[in-house]
Amino acid sequence: MRCPKCLLCLSALLTLLGLKVYIEWTSESRLSKAYPGARSTLAGPTSASTEPTLPTNLSARLGQTYPPPGTYWNRKQWQLGELPSEDCQAWGAATAAEILDLDSYPEDLHRFLLSAACRNFPRWLPTGKASPVAGCSASDVPYLLLAVKSEPGRFAERQAVRETWGSMAPGVRRLFLLGSPLGAGGPDLGSLVAWESWRYGDLLLWDFLDAPYNRTLKDLQLFAWLGQHCPDVSFVLQAQDDAFVHIPALLQHLQSLPPAWARSLYLGEVFTKAKPLRHAGRPFYVPESFFEGSYPAYASGGGYVIAGRLAPWLLQAAGRVMPFPFDDVYTGLCFRALGLVPRAHPGFRTAWPAGRSVNPCTLRGLLLVQPLSPQTSIRLWRQLRDPRLQC
Ligand SMILES: *[C@@H]1O[C@H](CO)[C@@H](O)[C@H](O)[C@H]1NC(C)=O
Ligand SMILES: *[C@@H]1O[C@H](CO)[C@@H](O)[C@H](O)[C@H]1NC(C)=O
Repeated sequence: MRCPKCLLCLSALLTLLGLKVYIEWTSESRLSKAYPGARSTLAGPTSASTEPTLPTNLSARLGQTYPPPGTYWNRKQWQLGELPSEDCQAWGAATAAEILDLDSYPEDLHRFLLSAACRNFPRWLPTGKASPVAGCSASDVPYLLLAVKSEPGRFAERQAVRETWGSMAPGVRRLFLLGSPLGAGGPDLGSLVAWESWRYGDLLLWDFLDAPYNRTLKDLQLFAWLGQHCPDVSFVLQAQDDAFVHIPALLQHLQSLPPAWARSLYLGEVFTKAKPLRHAGRPFYVPESFFEGSYPAYASGGGYVIAGRLAPWLLQAAGRVMPFPFDDVYTGLCFRALGLVPRAHPGFRTAWPAGRSVNPCTLRGLLLVQPLSPQTSIRLWRQLRDPRLQC
């Protein structure tokens, strides 16, 4: 050993380098997550009520204290009694015009503001045909409804869900939620989607542009559909089509919940005190003049479970909460308006780093992993069902 000090230096340097790479890698994978806040893993009961209520003035519930800041969302929420049921376009245009720097807003946020109060869209049905999606019959009420948000062109993602965790299971029903297959300036996927709908009977389509900031419409239309066609479903999983759900573990967890929790369930990977991201041009950018403050505690939109009986409550709350472009934050706001809190479960992992493989043994201890490719989901499904799997 000619230079023990050099060796020491070298190993110290290498350690530092490794640390740097690790820190960069972890912050990278965090960046890919939408708008992270402190992750809470407390699953214990809280003092919050387990019965939903909707006061006539939501300001206190939403943590708004006088005087309201000059930001658009905060100010409008303070004034809002109820969102208009008619002339939603005119209302959108008039309120958006109050934003002084509207011209500097990203185009999709601008578009969102113009139609944000428009929430009633007809179902999209292949011309002249009735819907092939059956309601829940009295004798066949699902325990768990899988409501998967997809987009018309994501055929492979949907098929992977059908072939894996969304395949038939007792007490479980699967539906995909989609906007119109006629995208803005995109190819017309109408006839392909119509065929798929007839083949599988699991597509709920509505006639609005399927854009990320329109995802809340899928939640609201689903709640309306549930109220009419499946009011007694016990639980609803709302997930993205690139999630992988470990259904047996999820069912087991749901069945083990104390009844009071189960009645008001809002379960997932919970972010508390998340703040808006202020980098113009980056994903999930929220201008300073649009919203101020922290987001409510909310369950990440990659996948969460709610109690089915809350659907009409959430629909009612949504009529009183100012629209917000991110569907999961909006759901958090609606739950907060109802006086209910999300419950965190460490088995929900919705920021799975791209490229990190999922081991079937790890997955056995998890409830939901997202995002995964269709190929990864299919491989995992096979491995999980392999009788030779030893963990
Ligand atoms: C809610 O209450 C505050 C005062 O506590 C009031 O200033 C505000 O206008 C009320 N909002 C609505 C929609 O009535
Ligand atoms: C949502 O859909 C409506 C109806 O198709 C459309 O007018 C609006 O621009 C869409 N919103 C966004 C943000 O794309």
